[in-house]
Amino acid sequence: MISPYCNQIIQGDCLKSLQQIPDNSIDMTFADPPFNLKKGYKSYRDSLALQEYLQWCEQWIAEMVRITKPSGAIFLHNIPKWLTYYATFLNQRADFKHWISWDAPTSPMGKTLQPNHYGILFYAKDAKQLKFYEIRYPHKRDRKSPYLLKDYGGKKSGLHPFGSLVSDIWTDIHRVKHNKYRDEHPCQLPIHLLERLILMTTDEADVVLDPFSGTGTTAIAAKRLGRNYIGLELDHDYVEISRQKLARVAANSKLGDYWVSFYLDKVVTLRDNDWEYLQNFFHLPTQPEQIDAMPIRLKSTVPVPITFENQDSSDTTQLTAQPVQNCQTILF
Ligand SMILES: C[S@@+](CC[C@H](N)C(=O)[O-])C[C@H]1O[C@@H](n2cnc3c(N)ncnc32)[C@H](O)[C@@H]1O
Repeated sequence: MISPYCNQIIQGDCLKSLQQIPDNSIDMTFADPPFNLKKGYKSYRDSLALQEYLQWCEQWIAEMVRITKPSGAIFLHNIPKWLTYYATFLNQRADFKHWISWDAPTSPMGKTLQPNHYGILFYAKDAKQLKFYEIRYPHKRDRKSPYLLKDYGGKKSGLHPFGSLVSDIWTDIHRVKHNKYRDEHPCQLPIHLLERLILMTTDEADVVLDPFSGTGTTAIAAKRLGRNYIGLELDHDYVEISRQKLARVAANSKLGDYWVSFYLDKVVTLRDNDWEYLQNFFHLPTQPEQIDAMPIRLKSTVPVPITFENQDSSDTTQLTAQPVQNCQTILF
């Protein structure tokens, strides 16, 4: 029997739902839990006592590790304060890979340094078996001129035509700023942040699970990239918003046969291994100086897929494209 959770957003307490999921069955788990910062969620009180919060976190983190496959990746998004506790706990159960620093300014908090990044802990269930792909993002450029931000001096000839390999500091993805992309939810993540993590650690038809699904960001990213998803969420309204959004999303984030991540009409993440094929879709610079002087562009004949951000909400044409139904690995 294929899991009834396959490609669903399940309403309820994630701890109960997680217990229904077999050991070693999910390819990638990602959690963006409440940060215990008194955010105004509809069904959850975001202000637990310190020990209560940490004990609760330990329970769902242990479940995440249990259900992740030996080849799978575990990601935890939070403010640095809580990630220090998570890391201590996780170090006993999984293999540390990276602390990704996502440069995204938060509100001033009084007598502190201005918090300017969120962390994403990246653990492998088993580092020796981890599925991992190197990924690239477009070179960083000046906002007002097309030139590269960094001076590569004599090393320009070694520049990759598309962009740099992604490091553990991510400065190119902004928080959701425009109201038209915002749901009635206090802390929604950008879809292309999740797409980067998914491209880095999963293949088509793999299963991605998010125990704090919110308004469905992880599920949407997974569906766009031809992966299967499972979202768990306490609040009925957030679940409804997610389901409505998912109905408007197709598995179409591709150039030809290869999955890439778009933001609006630009490719923002691709796999290094796929470049030999993907380069055919771009106007390639012939001289290193051209990489310095202008951003790489898709050929005008390449259709940009309709994505959630650029779709007209009345357009239902893409509803026919469904993700691959392949949750056979999770039998329950
Ligand atoms: C930080 S938000 C996640 C936002 C999500 N990443 C997005 O982009 O929409 C945390 C979510 O966890 C949900 N939540 C809180 N306790 C939960 C529980 N026990 N089980 C499932 N979801 C829970 C909240 O309702 C909230 O939507």
